[in-house]
Amino acid sequence: MKILLIGNGAREHAIAAALKRNKECQLYCFASANNPGIIELAEDIKIGDPNSVEEVVDYAKQIEPEMAWIGPEAPLEKGLADYLAVIDIPSVGPKKELAQIETSKGFARDLLVEYDIPAYPKYQNFDSIDGIEGFIEELDMNIVLKPDGLTGGKGVKVVGDHFKTKQEALDYCKEVVEGQGKIVIEEKLVGQEFSLMSFCDGDHIQHMPAVQDNKRAYENDEGPNTGGMGSYSMPDHSMPFLDQDDIETAQEINFKVMRALHAKYGQPYKGILYGGFIAVADGVKLIEYNARLGDPEAMNICTLLESDLVEISRGIINGDLDQKEVKFANKASVCKYAVPEGYPDEPVKNMPIDVSAIDQKKVTLYYASVDQTEEGLMLKGSRAVGVVALDDDLYTAEKTVEEQILKIRGPVFHRADIGRKDLTEKRIKMQEDVRS
Ligand code: AMP
Ligand code: GLY
Repeated sequence: MKILLIGNGAREHAIAAALKRNKECQLYCFASANNPGIIELAEDIKIGDPNSVEEVVDYAKQIEPEMAWIGPEAPLEKGLADYLAVIDIPSVGPKKELAQIETSKGFARDLLVEYDIPAYPKYQNFDSIDGIEGFIEELDMNIVLKPDGLTGGKGVKVVGDHFKTKQEALDYCKEVVEGQGKIVIEEKLVGQEFSLMSFCDGDHIQHMPAVQDNKRAYENDEGPNTGGMGSYSMPDHSMPFLDQDDIETAQEINFKVMRALHAKYGQPYKGILYGGFIAVADGVKLIEYNARLGDPEAMNICTLLESDLVEISRGIINGDLDQKEVKFANKASVCKYAVPEGYPDEPVKNMPIDVSAIDQKKVTLYYASVDQTEEGLMLKGSRAVGVVALDDDLYTAEKTVEEQILKIRGPVFHRADIGRKDLTEKRIKMQEDVRS
């Protein structure tokens, strides 16, 4: 039984590892670099441009897999799932129109309004500068500015963090509408963020444990935003700053959004819905949707997953996901990324790292932006290696990861505080203040 995996980050390494726990799975990977973890698991790895639909489709014709697993968002935006469907290869990953839930922030917000799901903060879409000043004044400068399309997490600007004055806000809005064309202006919310991801077959949904990502580059949540420096989850699959109602609300929002997508387009959303939520004073609100597994969150989720991901994927594709077992270990998980020195702004590249001293009986290692070459394992400039531990206790898992990640040799750094007691308690206290 053949599965074609698209992508070669740590997220895809984690997906590959989970799929391969089914002994019948033969994995083929279309990748942009030689991820050593995926090489070990796959029958074949084809190097090319995962964003070129033609290249991937050519490879898929050769392999004739039972299904494709599309890891990153960019191929979804290109309509890869649509093109594969034409040659009768179903995908875990939505078709282009449905992937707009991630690829267009304006679309996502309007969909929720249309289907009466009041989860986003107050917002307005703009395609010219007209009316922007008035809306900024209406929100009293308590604003977040979001270019409409995919920006790799770098286009969003939050008042106080990235700009201060109305003029700065207007200048950025002008730059965006004159460039890619559209911008969303949205009310700024305060509270702890968390990710709640769900497997979807279009009609049925099965939820994953909540996870908290850490976006800032440096300890104590300082420095520039990144793709995510690491993430953690709890044995009860909630977060230490949430109550059961919060989780249920987030799950219900994902369910309603899956159904709304089906209703609007007359075709089922098959893949992952990733709700990026924020816990506010009186409940939870949405910040973002993604149409794929999160990175780093996929490393927590795939390590915790006890059920067969191949069977879950078949459920997604065949529309009987409700009949499949989706079970996660009741353990805490901690994931930390080792990233190149200088990341994210001026990362060192093409320098070797050595991970051989890591004890892989104690932690799971996932390879990301690295390339296995004749000179050894080389840094490619983005997040390099994810290290994950599970334990009954969050702080024990954190210590295990810390002990092992320090064994990596080479020009890399990581955030020591992810999942650690001081930072976690600080977050709990911050949320208590928001809700008091
Ligand atoms: P995004 O790329 O849209 O996920 O946004 C990046 C980051 O900006 C989020 O992780 C939040 O920290 C922040 N952000 C986005 N929208 C809001 C909002 N409405 N209120 C407060 N912070 C936000
Ligand atoms: N962890 C954030 C993302 O995958 O978009």
